[in-house]
Amino acid sequence: MQPENHPNTNNLNNVVTTNGLTKYYGVIKAVDKLTLSIPEKSVFGILGPNGSGKTTTLGMLLDVINPTSGSYSWFGKKPDKETRQTIGSILETPAFYPYLSAVDNLKIVAEIKAIGYENIHEVLQITGLYDRRNSAFSTFSLGMKQRLALASALLCDPLVMILDEPTNGLDPRGIAEIRELIRDIAARGKTIILASHLLDEVQKVCTHFAVLNKGQLLHSGPVNETKLDEQRLEMAAENMTNLKTVLESFPGTKKIETTGDTITITLPGAIQIGEVSRFVFERGIFITHLVSLKKSLETQFLEILNEPA
Ligand SMILES: Nc1ncnc2c1ncn2[C@@H]1O[C@H](COP(=O)(O)OP(=O)(O)OP(=O)(O)O)[C@@H](O)[C@H]1O
Ligand SMILES: [Mg+2]
Repeated sequence: MQPENHPNTNNLNNVVTTNGLTKYYGVIKAVDKLTLSIPEKSVFGILGPNGSGKTTTLGMLLDVINPTSGSYSWFGKKPDKETRQTIGSILETPAFYPYLSAVDNLKIVAEIKAIGYENIHEVLQITGLYDRRNSAFSTFSLGMKQRLALASALLCDPLVMILDEPTNGLDPRGIAEIRELIRDIAARGKTIILASHLLDEVQKVCTHFAVLNKGQLLHSGPVNETKLDEQRLEMAAENMTNLKTVLESFPGTKKIETTGDTITITLPGAIQIGEVSRFVFERGIFITHLVSLKKSLETQFLEILNEPA
């Protein structure tokens, strides 16, 4: 797999740019004057509640939905057939044949895409399905089916992957596996555009994100420049004054608030809760209460949604 072999990739900063992209379904405005740039090699999350226009946006970028007005360009130009071959997508779970093996299903995909079979083993390895390559699709778990869909999108060695709700319906382990896989694929130098209504998912895998609501762009930017990569912990101990002093000396503490009989500490998202409790314990403090205020991330997301556009 040699991304260098693809055309139109020299020194370009954005893989796709939209300009006033708009889609009406009758009177329903699904996407409203969307102007957005997606940087090369980013993992770009399009975040928004149900019905906010995520799938419609991806559909227009993939040329399966006609925009009502506005335009978009891939690699700085109107997309042609050659450009389209550098974009892999799972907009909806592809229909695989239940009684055929993973390998045979991918052979059929390769035939349809008019490409060779030579990448089949590699994409099965990347997606962790190699050991099950000869099992029938019908014997796969939901997570494995989703990974086979990713394998199928990877088959033509795309530069860009477009994924619509890639973890839909998966359990926490399946979600974590897909997240790892997305990171692996990104580490291969591919740009990934994914739609999700899960803030947590976007926060964990994306480098950049945009927030859509009712078809309108409310926010766009790198993930680490927003408060989305923060976490808050609510804590209490028998001696609150000592707890506060110790927390003030914890590396990474961004903010400490005292509310009633608890202390709320704001930390970078990457810090494990165990690190905080160990730090405090090693300084002779016994915690009587420790709650992760994960909801606060959602609150921030909801705040973006509620800000006037
Ligand atoms: N084929 C269609 N015909 C009519 N209206 C549609 C069609 N597809 C989407 N819509 C409407 O366009 C709006 C945006 O839908 P879209 O599927 O793009 O949202 P979404 O953000 O992907 O939602 P979800 O999170 O539920 O997948 C919604 O109001 C939806 O009802
Ligand atoms: Mg959708």
